[in-house]
Amino acid sequence: MGPDTRIQDLLGIELPTLLAPMAGAVSSELAIAVAEAGRRGSLPCAMLSTGQVRAELARIRQRTARPINLNFFCHHSPAVDLQWEMAWRERLSGYYLELGLDLKAPVQSTTRTPFDGAMWDLVVELRPEVVSFHFGLPDKELLAHVKDTGEKIQSSATTVDEARWLEDAGCDTIVAQGYEAAGHRGMFLTQDISTQLGTFALVPQVVDAVKGPVIAAGGIADARGIVAASGLGASPVQMGTTYLFCPESTIGSGTSASTEESSAS
Ligand SMILES: Cc1cc2nc3c(=O)[nH]c(=O)nc-3n(C[C@H](O)[C@H](O)[C@H](O)COP(=O)(O)O)c2cc1C
Repeated sequence: MGPDTRIQDLLGIELPTLLAPMAGAVSSELAIAVAEAGRRGSLPCAMLSTGQVRAELARIRQRTARPINLNFFCHHSPAVDLQWEMAWRERLSGYYLELGLDLKAPVQSTTRTPFDGAMWDLVVELRPEVVSFHFGLPDKELLAHVKDTGEKIQSSATTVDEARWLEDAGCDTIVAQGYEAAGHRGMFLTQDISTQLGTFALVPQVVDAVKGPVIAAGGIADARGIVAASGLGASPVQMGTTYLFCPESTIGSGTSASTEESSAS
């Protein structure tokens, strides 16, 4: 069995690697660099306003004609539970002391916005080649609107049940996200950590459970990982952490799209 090239063929990308959308760490610069290198670029939108998404995508379209993925969250914003927050800080207090951090600093509320009607309007206007979601999918009506635009829909599954649920709901491509995946892990049908598998255990099970192409994510950072994922039936792979070391990544630089806009205003 040769590598599954359905996504590469569909998007016209030369190499089987996708830049993971990473809210707060990826802006247009990294998406452009990755796309121009023959891979698929992504723009995470969970921390951007509609105006920022529009400006970022305009920058991307000016500098590359390659396919781009816009990525959105579909979570329900959690209520802040101070007792819970303080309990985990207490547990990590040794590290707070070691690094000179203030254990009593105010708890920041979430800055991630779930996909809504305004973002859907934007998808219709901007027509990215792929629309991807994290933490499941938007509600049925909103998802039907996105599908009506003809966009390819992608989301992540951390279990076989989640993968089946996504395919039944109309997802075209599924990211099998193993527990090595850094940053946001997209668990949405369960909160039970004991259901979670490593990437190379999860991938073949998801490949067997769904018909559409499967993308492997979590702990893959070099050619050996890409070949291993392909051997298990997943192609391409989505890589995140390894891109954080690129000069175009916004971590630590203070130049994410959101900070650029707030410093300009
Ligand atoms: C800093 C960071 C932020 C992330 N933010 C998002 C996000 O906004 N949307 C999303 O779908 N996945 C997000 N992820 C998960 C990635 O899409 C991907 O699954 C993960 O990075 C793969 O594992 P790796 O980091 O070991 O390569 C994030 C990952 C990191 C490291």
